[in-house]
Amino acid sequence: MASAGLADMRLHPPDQPPAQTGRRSCPWDALSSSALPADPCAAAARATTDGVTTAGGIRPGGAGSPSAAGPSAPDWRQQLREGLEALPAARRRQLRSLEPRAAAQFQPSPAGSAAGAPTAAASAGSTGDLMAGSNTAAVDNARSAPAATPPAAALPLLDLASNDYLGLSRHPAVLAAAASELAASGLGAGSSRLVSGTRPVHLQLEESLAAWLGRERALLFPSGFQANLAAVCALADRHSLVLADRLIHHSLLVGVRASGARLQRFAHNDPADLERRLLTARRQRPSGRLLVLCESLYSMEGTSPPLAALVALCARHQAPLLVDEAHALGLLGPGGRGLAHGFAEVAIVSGTFGKAFGSGGAFLAGDALVGDWLLQHSGAFRYTTALAPPLAAGALAALDRIQAEPRAAAALLARAERWRDGLAAAGWPRPPGRGPILSLLLGDDVSALAMQERLAAAGLLALAIRPPTVPEGTARLRLVLRHGLPSGSLERLLMALGPGPLPPKPR
Ligand SMILES: Cc1ncc(COP(=O)(O)O)c(C=O)c1O
Repeated sequence: MASAGLADMRLHPPDQPPAQTGRRSCPWDALSSSALPADPCAAAARATTDGVTTAGGIRPGGAGSPSAAGPSAPDWRQQLREGLEALPAARRRQLRSLEPRAAAQFQPSPAGSAAGAPTAAASAGSTGDLMAGSNTAAVDNARSAPAATPPAAALPLLDLASNDYLGLSRHPAVLAAAASELAASGLGAGSSRLVSGTRPVHLQLEESLAAWLGRERALLFPSGFQANLAAVCALADRHSLVLADRLIHHSLLVGVRASGARLQRFAHNDPADLERRLLTARRQRPSGRLLVLCESLYSMEGTSPPLAALVALCARHQAPLLVDEAHALGLLGPGGRGLAHGFAEVAIVSGTFGKAFGSGGAFLAGDALVGDWLLQHSGAFRYTTALAPPLAAGALAALDRIQAEPRAAAALLARAERWRDGLAAAGWPRPPGRGPILSLLLGDDVSALAMQERLAAAGLLALAIRPPTVPEGTARLRLVLRHGLPSGSLERLLMALGPGPLPPKPR
């Protein structure tokens, strides 16, 4: 598996479009009779060539392909074993975030301790944070709270890892809205949207999102992963060439694979490279179907693209643009509406409620035509249980909070700049981008893991992000700021990190 070459990943050669069948390709055709690679994430991450490839690895003769049937059919257990053995040992054993000790810190502190937290109000005031309901108190206070779990599993860490950027997962108004919907509608929707799963809150949320983003239509999905898959399948098929930023989220790559389209990666946030590829693509196939994919805030780098330039290029070359705003919504752009806000040319905006909205579920927004296509054709929309009504209600309340308290996002962004300055002043490379995700490049896996351990020993939870999530040789520490971190958190971090490798920069 590890050595699966790009040639193996190719479903059709770069310059030859697949044979026309006269039938519009079903998004699932590419997956229906073939095995996914043992580690689709790794396979997708490896497909980082300049050449053209499909997004996945479908190996000739592999399990599930027609030739695998019969007496010599490979043992699927053996294939899984080989896939696991191909992982470097350190990577395989060190999935620390699944260990109980790390999970324990996300549990709420014992009832009453958060309310009595001496630091909660003070820290909110001292950092300019505005919104109530942060889980900071719960995390920090667990330090002095009576141990509810065995000591080894109870070491409380300050959470510098999760994406609950605005602390909305515990905001009283969000919790109350979810609780009230829970009482009224029950926990689950009971069926898909097109059967009996639609509740008034779904329609209200879709309308509110569309109005907020200035789009004609928004449709809800149970997760951002699913929404991304649906979005790519709406805009590309097996006759398409998809041009995706090299660091695009895995869900979009799975979408490309499901669509059957060919994939090319352009250099991260590099419009010049995208332009070269668009020109070549148009020269080779003047009327070919193109699609461009990018994110507005990259979750592992903290960077954002020059979106105006990408929009202009896509318009010039008649390539629809899909922007994944998972990490930007609620924080970046006017009033937290994301960086694609105001660009009517953007064909689809994808958003999730799993980050700044503080819950779960997702949506796609676009014009009425795109909305109608998704409604009529998207299996990922039609054939799945509707978003749980309490989550929809929570998302609606979160949207209300985001609109009512725009200064919360502004305060978080300002604080993130101070953290960048602080890291640079301590001799660390200034984390790129603007926003709450700070990526500290360390290079090799061992250094990144050692730093994660060092921070954990100092009571801080920040995760080492390693390949295949990021390219080889770029293991890093991912630091995430969120609303309500107590004052002094930066100082704690700098103390734990120690001096950086560069000459300190004056603040
Ligand atoms: C950029 C990006 N897009 C999409 C997703 C998927 O969102 P969800 O967690 O709602 O499935 C994520 C989550 O990891 C993400 O980081």
